[in-house]
Amino acid sequence: MAKSPVNVTVTGAAGNIGYSLVFRIASGEMLGPDQPVRIKMLEITPALKAAEGTAMELNDCAFPLLDGIDITDDPNVAFSGCNFGLLVGSMPRKQGMERADLISANGGIFGPQGKAINDNAADDVRILVVGNPANTNAVIAAASAPDVPASRFNAMMRLDHNRALSQLAEKLNVPVSSVKKMIVWGNHSADQYPDISFCEVDGKPACGLVDEAWLDDYFVPTVAKRGAAIIEARGKSSAASAAAAAIDHMHSWACGTPAGDWVTAAIPSAGQYGVPEGLSYGFPVTSDGKEWKVVEGLEISEKTQSKIKFNADKAAAEIDTVKSLGIM
Ligand code: NAD
Ligand code: LMR
Repeated sequence: MAKSPVNVTVTGAAGNIGYSLVFRIASGEMLGPDQPVRIKMLEITPALKAAEGTAMELNDCAFPLLDGIDITDDPNVAFSGCNFGLLVGSMPRKQGMERADLISANGGIFGPQGKAINDNAADDVRILVVGNPANTNAVIAAASAPDVPASRFNAMMRLDHNRALSQLAEKLNVPVSSVKKMIVWGNHSADQYPDISFCEVDGKPACGLVDEAWLDDYFVPTVAKRGAAIIEARGKSSAASAAAAAIDHMHSWACGTPAGDWVTAAIPSAGQYGVPEGLSYGFPVTSDGKEWKVVEGLEISEKTQSKIKFNADKAAAEIDTVKSLGIM
């Protein structure tokens, strides 16, 4: 029997990421080739016309799975019946800024959207926050949605995960698909800690295949600072790769992760690996198609544990900033 359409809300749909994202949602790459979608685009009023242009192109693709498009500047309308929400709409950083510098510009967007989700979304709503600083914005949105389980608010660390897979695969001259069990601990910030301790490459431990100096001096900083490198090269922040990571995140969450592997997602900590409860934090996770489960019981080295704590402290400091600005 044919599936009923689900509502997918995309905020900032007329922006750079939105322009890559909506086409892939409509083509079925996010939720599968048999799942019809209705796309609800939320934009600020001056960008509604641009969103209409994107919608015209979406229609021109004649995607069989696209059941309809709504365009609005009202969050209550955009999140009405929302099953999947991708919270992208917000300002990107410019060269020389850290993502946390966006708290005062962007933080205020996510409280009202959290409330609109609380009041209007479907009972099974799942939210991915992409707008930076993503982890902190996910905490802000969840705090304004007391009737929605906090576990439904994720922040995007999949781009960091994909970057780490790609860097290791390139170093070892293997396809990305050979690399399993990557982890990126922490915050989507330059402090994140990409960790290959448990990685397997074609079934063999990755640790023996690269030396510590390459990991510390090249791999970790390259992955952690990739966003800034892209801004420097392109003059604007990553867009197609960010959209691809958002598709990957939602696909893994909704369709499940394959046996023998895991992915990185920022989800509210329940205290795993010493990360204080409630922080939105990048963990290794698996999904059964409904809920994420943190991969627990990994033997963590002292060095990694100190990186996990450092990141948690930085993430907590961002929440303190949000509180001091009166955003939450
Ligand atoms: P962009 O400026 O091209 O587009 C942003 C869009 O959001 C614009 O169309 C704007 O009108 C809209 N917008 C602004 N405020 C809004 C609001 N209150 N409601 C709805 N829409 C609103 O930016 P972009 O390149 O698409 O990046 C968007 C965000 O994603 C930035 O914060 C960027 O830093 C972040 N980002 C995150 C990751 C990640 O891995 N988490 C990766 C790349 C970019
Ligand atoms: C990225 O990682 O590419 C995005 O978060 C954009 C940025 O500001 O780095």
